[in-house]
Parts: sequence; structure tokens; C-alpha cells
Amino acid sequence: MRTEKKFYITTPIYYPSDRLHIGHSYTTVAADAAARFKRLTGFDVWFLTGTDEHGQKIQRSAEAAGKNPQQFVDEIVVWIKELWAGLDISYDDFIRTTEPRHKEAVQDIFARLYRQGDIYKGKYEGWYCTPCESFWTPRQVNEGRCPDCEREVELVSEEGYFFRMSRYADKLLEHIESHPEFIQPASRKNEMINNFLKPGLEDLFVSRTTFDWGIEVPFDPGHVIYVWLDALTNYITALGYPHRSERFERYWPADVQLIGKEIVRFHTIYWPIFLMALGLPLPHRVFGHGWLLLQEGKMSKSRGNVIDPMVLVERYGSDCVRYFLLREIPFGADGIFSNESMLQRFNSDLANDLGNLVSRTLTMVEKYFDGHIPAPSTREKQPVDEDLQRLALETPQRVEELMDTLQYSAALEALWKLVRRSNKYIDETTPWLLAREEDKRERLQTVLYHLCESIRFVSVMLWPYMPQTPPRIWEQLGISGELPQHSWESLQRFGGLEPGTRAHRTEDLFPRLDIEEELKKLLGEKAGPTPEKLPQKTGDEEKPEAHDAHAKTTGKGAAAAGGEGLISLEEFSRVEIRVAEIVEAEPVSGTDKLLTLLLDAGGEQKQVVAGIAQHYRPQQLIGKKTLFVSNLKPAKIRGIRSEGMILAASGPGGELVLTTVDGDLPPGSVIS
Ligand code: ME8
Ligand code: MG
Repeated sequence: MRTEKKFYITTPIYYPSDRLHIGHSYTTVAADAAARFKRLTGFDVWFLTGTDEHGQKIQRSAEAAGKNPQQFVDEIVVWIKELWAGLDISYDDFIRTTEPRHKEAVQDIFARLYRQGDIYKGKYEGWYCTPCESFWTPRQVNEGRCPDCEREVELVSEEGYFFRMSRYADKLLEHIESHPEFIQPASRKNEMINNFLKPGLEDLFVSRTTFDWGIEVPFDPGHVIYVWLDALTNYITALGYPHRSERFERYWPADVQLIGKEIVRFHTIYWPIFLMALGLPLPHRVFGHGWLLLQEGKMSKSRGNVIDPMVLVERYGSDCVRYFLLREIPFGADGIFSNESMLQRFNSDLANDLGNLVSRTLTMVEKYFDGHIPAPSTREKQPVDEDLQRLALETPQRVEELMDTLQYSAALEALWKLVRRSNKYIDETTPWLLAREEDKRERLQTVLYHLCESIRFVSVMLWPYMPQTPPRIWEQLGISGELPQHSWESLQRFGGLEPGTRAHRTEDLFPRLDIEEELKKLLGEKAGPTPEKLPQKTGDEEKPEAHDAHAKTTGKGAAAAGGEGLISLEEFSRVEIRVAEIVEAEPVSGTDKLLTLLLDAGGEQKQVVAGIAQHYRPQQLIGKKTLFVSNLKPAKIRGIRSEGMILAASGPGGELVLTTVDGDLPPGSVIS
């Protein structure tokens, strides 16, 4: 395809030091969904992933396994490719940094930078974190530990080559400031500017001599090139650079580079500086997404608590895992992975909402029209029909806008709004009652046609996120094969399904799971740790929005200056605000927004449910003092009792920030 619109997207190249876990799958699934979305909407896409195979970390892992490094990584790479196949990752290229095409290119780049005077020889004395493959100055090191991963650093003292970062620091700062979309989300941009660029960049040590598992400095054998210089350039060497290949000319600069937040520094400081030195344009966007955590904190191999995505794919299918990863957590934020919440989403969103919509509709088509999709009446249109149609027609654009800013969760939410609207349409139009009366036949045709067409809309939009499900729906709708009704353009018109098409009600798309039973089985297979028992959703829950989930955003929606909405001092004095210390914080299962907080309110403990889970991790909150409304009538949120409301302010980017107390007041102090 040769359209004007091209889209180049990359993932980090992962270390094949061990099997990958659900965290790596997260980035790759997200990149895949973006790539598929762009393909669906007419872009010429190039999607790159791969493996970062050199360096001390890999060399040591190989030694520990008693293998030579090449053999060691070869085996893991086979497994990684199987994982990506299992998750339906549609990459266009998979680069391995041990391939000749990459090694030659990196040597060429290194030699060129040396010739230009960007690289010079010297002596390095400083600290190194091998798990992060990162150099640190004495000022940055934290009591002998890496400021990023908190593991012990090692002293490095060797001769080698330095890259003159200082040469490009001002130019980079200027670029970052004049291109607000370059580093995303915006909070990470400020961190880079304030913590790294403003204090001044040190020259970077870009070669090593104490081990040999790396690409040799071409003009100085005995030195290997620093693994991050080697790795970062993969994004251009995979396109053929330094040859000005057709592919390179077409796709560089990258449109989106997806990474986890811990490597934003490498991608928004080192990487753009290397590119500047090579005279190449910078990627349009580098997006540092949040971490997938477990209820007990970080996932790590040493803790033995990693989740094996392969087990989940084998049991529940890749669409289920993909849906959960993309839907559960807003992309920039940290979020919690648990088998239990994945299974809950499976039952609620996939089995109940989508699965039921398809099976209810097709059962009726089968029963009332012998499996033929009926023609809608040309006379009989009712407001409910128009309402459904309007939402179906609006949704593609809404989804596209959200995908342009990588808001996967919100895009799926928009899509599910149509799914839920369609289910509600069934309840409103009661087709089973229409079927009883002969003179309602035409109305029944219209209703079932609307439902089938709405399902078609959903199926087309679903493909980037859950590529296996649309063909299963199309088979049931009788539109299998390659058809124009599967295209994005076909969503410009409500009515693409041909009346008379022979539908086939076959299997349930997502048979409901017995969650307790599944958790037991997963535990047996060691797919993950036991999910902590958290309060279950109950029937008598109150809508969290009703109380703004007991986190009050001050400022927003406050009294207008005009006098309207002003309250008297007396009214204000009825509100009791106290200082409270947060002593416990726990996520509420089945939602990505809520935390249950236990507050020390001076002499008494209060439990509140607060809608701040997307802004704070539970561990961050413990020990913080904040303000809360203590005489609010208790409410039940998601079945959990909430006995007050903590106060938080919302920032310009929609982030919530807790109010704090200036001074060391004891908990329980009353605000007046
Ligand atoms: O850093 N949550 O490789 P790596 C979310 N080779 N994302 C996670 C995650 C988690 N818990 N765990 C891993 C490297 N990731 C270098 C990259 S690029 C030129 C070189 C994802 O194997 C996330 O994308 O440590 C993170 O940045 C990446 O895996 C780190 O993978
Ligand atoms: Mg890492």
C-alpha cells in the first residue's frame, strides 16, 4: 500500500535475559493495537519490535545458565516470538541487536560520531547499575544503590570513549520545550527537564573494556560499545540506516515510540541527542506509559511473582488478555494486574455485555426470521432507532480521536457504550413481544436489523484490540471472508448489512467463567500470586460518581465569582474538616479508580473510599496527612462503607493532588 499517510511505531527492544512477563506484553499489545488501528484507518504502517541482546546483564545471565551468550539469547528469542504469536502481535519487523545488519550499522554510526568529534577518548571513574545498564555519578547514587531500581551499583574505572552530551543539551531543551507532544505524558517531560537537563548533562561513557559481549569499537578492538548506544539505534538500523534505503526514507522519523516510564530518560535525552549528532529528525512522540503492578507491589523475577502471559493466553485466549490490558488502566498511569480483575472483566464486559448482545440478537434472527437478517422498514423509524443509529455513527470518530492520543481505555469505553446502548435497545423495543403480534412484524424487522447492523459496527471497531473476535462475529452474521462491510469506511453509513444475509447463531463468544474455580486452577498452574481477598461488588452499591467517590476536587465547580452559588459562613461552618493521617490504602477490586483508605482521625479510625487510584499508588499514600470532611453522612461505594471524604485538587492535566497540611498537626485537628 502506498498512501500518503504513513505511521511508524516501535516498542522497546526487550532484554532476552529471561522469559518476558505480562508487563512486556502490555507495551507490545498497546503498540499492536495502535498499529492495527492505523492500518484499519488507511495508514501505511511499519511496526517494529525486537530484542536487546548485548551487555553485561545478558552476559551474566548466560553465565549463570551455563551457556554461551549467543546460544542463551537464541533460545529466549524463540520463546519471545512464540509469545508474540500467541498474543497476535502483528509486527512488521523483529530486530535482534546481534544480527549483522544491526552490528554493522552501529559500528558505522560509532565511527562517524568519532570522526565528527562527538566521541572522544578518556578515562571513566564512576558507578554502574548492571540491571539497568546505567551509569551514575556519585551525586546521583543513593547510599550505594541505583536511584532507579534501588539495587547495588558497582564501581567502574576504565579507559574508553565518551560522548559529548553537553554539545547538544541546549538544542534538546529547546526542542522539548517547543514540541509539547514530544515527551508524553507531560508529567514525564517536566521530570526530564528539571531532574536531568537543567542540572547540566555530563558526558556519557559509551564503551566498555571489562567484558566482551557487545559490538566492538571498529577502530579499537578490546572496547565494546555501550549497550544503550547499541540498543537505541535499533529504531533506525532496522529501517536500513545508515543506508538511505527506501524504507528508511519512508518511515523515519517514528510517529510513536512506546516505552515504559523507567526508560524515558534514555529515550528522551540520549536518543534524541544521538539523532541530532547524526543530523536526523527526532521522533514525533515518545510515550512513557505506567507500570503494571501487582497488589503487593512491583513485579520482579527475583520475587518470583511475575505473571506468565502465555498461561493466560492458553486458558482465556489472547483477546481476553489484550482486552484487559488495554481496558483496565489508563495508559499513562500505573495500574494493578490481578487474575481476579481480569476474570471479572471477562464476565462483565465480554460475556455479559458483548457476548450476550450477539447471542440474544442472533437467537431472535434465527427464531423469527429463519436466520435471515430482515430488512428494516422504510416507514417505521422510531426515536430509539435513531438514537442507536446516531451513537453507532458517532462512535468511530470518537474512537479515532481517543486513539490519536493513545487513550486505549477510553476508546474501549466509547465502544462499550455502543454495546451497552444496543443491549438497552433490546430491552426498550422488546422484540419478543413484537414477535407475538402479526401486525408488529415490520417493527420487529426494523428492530432486529438495527441490532445486527450495530453489532457489525462494534465488530469492525473491535479488531485493533481483539483481532480474533470480529471474524467470529462475522461468521455468525453471515459476512465472513474479505468484504467491504469490514472496513472503516463502511462505518460512514448505517445500513451496510444486506438484508437477507444468512446469519448463523453458533457458539457463545465468551461463555461465563466461574471465577473462584478459575482462580484455583490458575494458582495450580502458578500463573500468578493469590489475589488478595478484597470486598466484592454488591448489589446495593451506590454510584461512585454520586459522591465523586469521596475525593473532593476543590476549585473545580466551586462558587462562581458572580455571587450565584455562594454559601453563607453558617452553611460552611456545618462542614467539619479535619486533619487525617492515611494509615492503610488498598485498591478496590473490579475498578481502576478507587482506593479504600483507612484514616487516623485522632482517636478514631475512619474508612473512606476515594477515587484517586489513577493518581496515587497505595504505598505512596501511607503516612501522608491530608484534609477530610468528617461529618459527611456515610455512604456505600461498591459495597464498601465510606465514612467521609478526603479533599484533593485537580490539576490542569486532570491529575488529582491531595491537599496537605503545612506544619506538623496531630491527626484529628479541626480546620476552622
Ligand atoms: O529496558 N509494566 O528492556 P526490558 C509495564 N532493553 N511495562 C513493563 C513492565 C511492567 N511491570 N515490565 C516491563 C529494556 N515493561 C531495554 C530497552 S530500548 C532501546 C531498550 C515493558 O526487558 C516496558 O515497556 O527491561 C519497559 O520499558 C520495558 O518492558 C523494559 O523491558
Ligand atoms: Mg528493565
